[in-house]
Amino acid sequence: MKDKLRSQGWFGKKGKDGFIYRAWMKNQGIPDYEFRDKPVIGICNTWSELTPCNAHFRELAESIKRGVSEAGGFPVEFPVMSLGETLIKPTAMLYRNQVSMDVEESIRANPVDGVVLMCGCDKTTPSLVMGACSVNLPTLVVSGGPMLTGKFKGRDIGTSDIWRFNDAVRAGEMSQEDLTVSEACMCRSRGHCAVMGTASTMASMVESLGLSLPENAAIPAADSRRKVLAQMSGIRIVEMVKENLRLSDILTREAFENSIITNAAIGGSTNFIIHLLAIAGRIGVPLTLNDFDKLSASIPFIANIQPSGKYFMEDLYYAGGIPAVMKEIDRFLHGKCITVNGKTMRENYDTAECYNREIISTADKPFNPVSGVAILKGNLCENGAVIKPSAATPALMKHSGKAIVFEDIDDYKKRIDLPDLDVDETSILVLKNVGPIGYPGMPEVGNMALPKKLLAKGIHDLVRISDGRMSGTGFGTVILHASPEAALGGNFAVVQTGDVISLDVSKRSLVLEVSAAELEKRKKVWKSSYKKYDRGYVSLYQQHVEQAHLGADMDFLKGSSGSEVSRDSH
Ligand code: FES
Repeated sequence: MKDKLRSQGWFGKKGKDGFIYRAWMKNQGIPDYEFRDKPVIGICNTWSELTPCNAHFRELAESIKRGVSEAGGFPVEFPVMSLGETLIKPTAMLYRNQVSMDVEESIRANPVDGVVLMCGCDKTTPSLVMGACSVNLPTLVVSGGPMLTGKFKGRDIGTSDIWRFNDAVRAGEMSQEDLTVSEACMCRSRGHCAVMGTASTMASMVESLGLSLPENAAIPAADSRRKVLAQMSGIRIVEMVKENLRLSDILTREAFENSIITNAAIGGSTNFIIHLLAIAGRIGVPLTLNDFDKLSASIPFIANIQPSGKYFMEDLYYAGGIPAVMKEIDRFLHGKCITVNGKTMRENYDTAECYNREIISTADKPFNPVSGVAILKGNLCENGAVIKPSAATPALMKHSGKAIVFEDIDDYKKRIDLPDLDVDETSILVLKNVGPIGYPGMPEVGNMALPKKLLAKGIHDLVRISDGRMSGTGFGTVILHASPEAALGGNFAVVQTGDVISLDVSKRSLVLEVSAAELEKRKKVWKSSYKKYDRGYVSLYQQHVEQAHLGADMDFLKGSSGSEVSRDSH
């Protein structure tokens, strides 16, 4: 292994270059022996006080370092841009690809032999995994873990309650004071959102892909066993370097299929699709939108976690976690896929036990036979759109209604609560220009709040369609990721208020009941209305981002450039 260590291309050099590489590191008080033939492990840290979900990562990094040192490696922690879902404007998704570039170049340019990715809040996982895939060193993920279950007025709450509380305040059923009190009750510990939102979906994704040690997804951030997992991960990454076990060895087509199937069983976020497509694009595994529908169609929903179910991530951990879920769906999985600990996926979950059937059911008696995502096609979304049936209202899965169209998010905000808005329970809300290019960055606004006057009537769901995304914590009959997006001037761009739209999820169809001739006529006079940026990253993003059905990565970032550096620096 010694002559294979990439880091020795820096620290093992003699003369002026070796002096410079080592000497400046030594100003941190590092003894000489650390530079001699030890696997150097980069710990890619997304710690930031502006990413509250990852604010405990400095402490967690210490556990990883302890493990690396214990196994004979040399840990070096480095920061990358951190994406806090709640604070970053206009949307953290705009910067996912930028962070992936930061990660890729940071890994390649530096003397590291293996990498631990510290992921937590939603976009911190896909951005780090995407960047690492484009370098393809031995890599392992440690997630930060979910928050403890929120407690408010005697009941359990989590992030999905934001939408319920918001509707309740708008309907006059909850006071503003109670809403304020609920803030601290919901976020009462370190960690990311406590439901199967996007962060937990991403942590489950890395576990089901085989990129983390077993149990990574569900151990609460505040549970001391999270630190144990971090330390064990530190030990394991050193061994992975010795074994030269790389991302491309783990991320096979079968591993992606395992992840899609597991995501269906746990009712994971729709954002899973867009991020997994982007990761597949980096590592070079063919994956399409249809794969998600095809692979998840027969998978039962067996993890009773919000927003599709009732409980929280903490409960999932105590019930057996992702290994217990995967064991239940073993017959659908590729058990022989290799994982970061060197064992197969099946070896990892074979010994798992379910401790609570209220939380994890069997595949034969699921909480819902419907799971996963359905991919809709039709003239309103020629490249596809996405709906999460388990989070939708069954009665609305087949529905025709008149569209109420909002040209952009400002138009929506201006008009949604107007008393004279011609809306009823059969209406279909359509929101344009919240796609990757049009917004830009594809924000999570697809589960538009309903008009106050319908909420007052006790109506809590309508069919809603947009080219944007939805928070993994959201729910409702919400059709997302319509592609091509409105900014590109396709049929979705010319849908008008009053047009009839027909949805039939069982037939996977989403049809705008307007003649082709009329649509062509509208397109001839259509003018783009989205804001175009002419400098900086956002300009680059708008010019190169691909559509949602391809994963919304930038066209020039697909694939890998390996770990070779182009030139020596001196
Ligand atoms: Fe960070 Fe939900 S806001 S995971």
